[in-house]
This record gives sequence, structure tokens and C-alpha cells, in this order.
Amino acid sequence: MKIYFAPMEGLTDGVLRRVHRDLFGGVDVYCLPFHKLTQSGTVAALLTREKRDVDPQENRALTVLPQALTRDPDQLLTWMNDLAGLGYGCGDLNLGCPSPTVTKRGRGSGMLKDPEYLRSFLDAVFARPLPVRLSVKTRIGFERAEEWPGLLNILADYPFHHVTIHVRTTREQYSGGIHPEAFDEAVRMGIPEPVYNGDLRTAGDVKALLSRGPDPAGIMIGRGMLANPALARQIRGGKEASKEELEAWYTALYEGWKNRFGSTIALGRIKKLMEWPGEGDIRRKRLLRRAVEIDECIRALLD
Ligand SMILES: Cc1cc2nc3c(=O)[nH]c(=O)nc-3n(C[C@H](O)[C@H](O)[C@H](O)COP(=O)(O)O)c2cc1C
Repeated sequence: MKIYFAPMEGLTDGVLRRVHRDLFGGVDVYCLPFHKLTQSGTVAALLTREKRDVDPQENRALTVLPQALTRDPDQLLTWMNDLAGLGYGCGDLNLGCPSPTVTKRGRGSGMLKDPEYLRSFLDAVFARPLPVRLSVKTRIGFERAEEWPGLLNILADYPFHHVTIHVRTTREQYSGGIHPEAFDEAVRMGIPEPVYNGDLRTAGDVKALLSRGPDPAGIMIGRGMLANPALARQIRGGKEASKEELEAWYTALYEGWKNRFGSTIALGRIKKLMEWPGEGDIRRKRLLRRAVEIDECIRALLD
């Protein structure tokens, strides 16, 4: 079973990927936050940070999966062509982003609202020989989980490399109940390489997932990995993170981000990252908010 580090814009960049691999042994695949494709669809036309993120130099000795946000088949194919030129073997299509600014333009999970268009889009994409394999990351519906069987019928008709399923609808965003039975349904339908995503926070959660239904080809973890960078190691039977390892993790991330963006942005990112392990702890939150140095942040979190 492959372990994927979920894409999280503003956090899971090359600095985090390298530090994570060096300190905690890494994961099978690091997913890149989406590239918002422009009119031309080329990698050259992407934002500077997106171009850097996909640059093979940035990802040496790491397996990464770039992701595109578009509803235009020509843009997607141009982007995939550029990925092939950069040496990639697979690109991912984002059908999961729930942000209203994205969905109101019919992109991300906005495409799930219009199954007919989704089918014609995929027909247009798969009509031609693809320069790299295509995978997809989707939600199980826009408004309601009842949309899932219809969407599954569409997704099952195309030879995706793998299909990552966040077991919530767009309306459900990232919190509240999940629908793991939607994942079982995808496995039963014979969806290629189904990857489970949603609320896996501990090695126990993964164990419970594996014991409750059909085995996933992979699992994708986002917030759980930010809260506990040793999570993949623990899932594989290794030890939990020591205090020293966590200190080294936050210090190396801060140094990496400081070199790249300066100390103010670096500290802001560290504080954002620390929101997850500190979730719900008001005192910690207050200490973190006031902290002006990395050491204060680390003490607020770990002492
Ligand atoms: C700040 C933030 C940024 C995200 N950016 C992306 C993205 O660029 N592409 C994507 O497919 N999902 C994105 N996601 C969704 C995550 O990849 C993941 O699906 C979500 O956090 C649920 O998984 P989890 O419960 O393991 O955290 C983002 C989520 C958050 C909270």
C-alpha cells in the first residue's frame, strides 16, 4: 500500500518535502499543490512558485506528483506534454478543490456539479495518446453523497493511473462526518488503484480503515502528516517522533523557509504548520500567536 503526502498549498513545498524525507524517511509519493493552468496551459506560464515546485532540481531523489486545476482539455494536454518533457510519468487532475472562487468557475470540485461536462472533458482528454499517465483526485459529490454512484460510473470508464477519493462532498469541505462506504463502492466498481483520503490522523486510524473494508491501493494523508511528521514511519511499524526529532523538524523547516522567503514568512508558515498538532489547545494558541522567534514557537508546542 502506497502512502501519499497530500498536497497542501502554502505548506507542502520542496523545503518541507526534503526535510520530511531526511528526518522521517519520507513517503512513497509527495503530491504537489495544484498548478492553476493559464490560457496556454504551459508550465512556462505558471506562477514562479508553481514553476519552482515542479522543477526536477527541486525534487531530486523524491517521487512527486504534480497536479493541475483546469476544465479545459487542451490546457491539460499541453501541461501533460510539458510534464513529459521534464521527465515526469504522471500528472494529477484536481476534481476536489472546494473553494468557492474555484468551483464557481466550474473548476476543481465544481466539475462534479456537471457530470455531462465532466464526461465530455474526459472523452476529449483520453481521445488522444497521452504524453504521461493521468490520475485524478476527487470528492464524492458536490451537494450530496448520493451523487457518487453517477460520478463513479463516469470515472470507471477511463484508464486513470490511480484515483484518489476524498470521502466528503464539496459542501462538507474538510470537517464533519466522512463517507468511507463511498470508497468501498469505488473498489467494488473496479476503479483503478483507489487511494483513500480523509481524516487519517493516527496509525490506529489506518489500521481501522484496513480492517473495516477492502484494502486501498494507497492512502493519502494531509493534516495527520502535518500534525505528526512520523506518521508514515509509524504506519510502517516504526517508532513515533521523539521530542528531539520534532525540534529538528521545526528548526530545519524554519531555516529552509527563512533562506527562501525571509524570517517573517518563515515564522508565519511555522505557526500555520503548528496549528495542527496544537489543534484545540487555547493556551498553546495564545503562546504561538505572541511568539516572535522560532525557539518560542517550539517551546510553546513541545514544552
Ligand atoms: C491548506 C490546504 C491546502 C490544500 N491544497 C490542496 C491542493 O492544492 N490540491 C489538492 O488536491 N488538495 C488540497 N488540499 C486538500 C488536502 O490535500 C487533503 O485532501 C485534505 O486535507 C483532506 O485530507 P486529510 O484529512 O488527510 O487532511 C488542501 C487542504 C488544505 C487544508
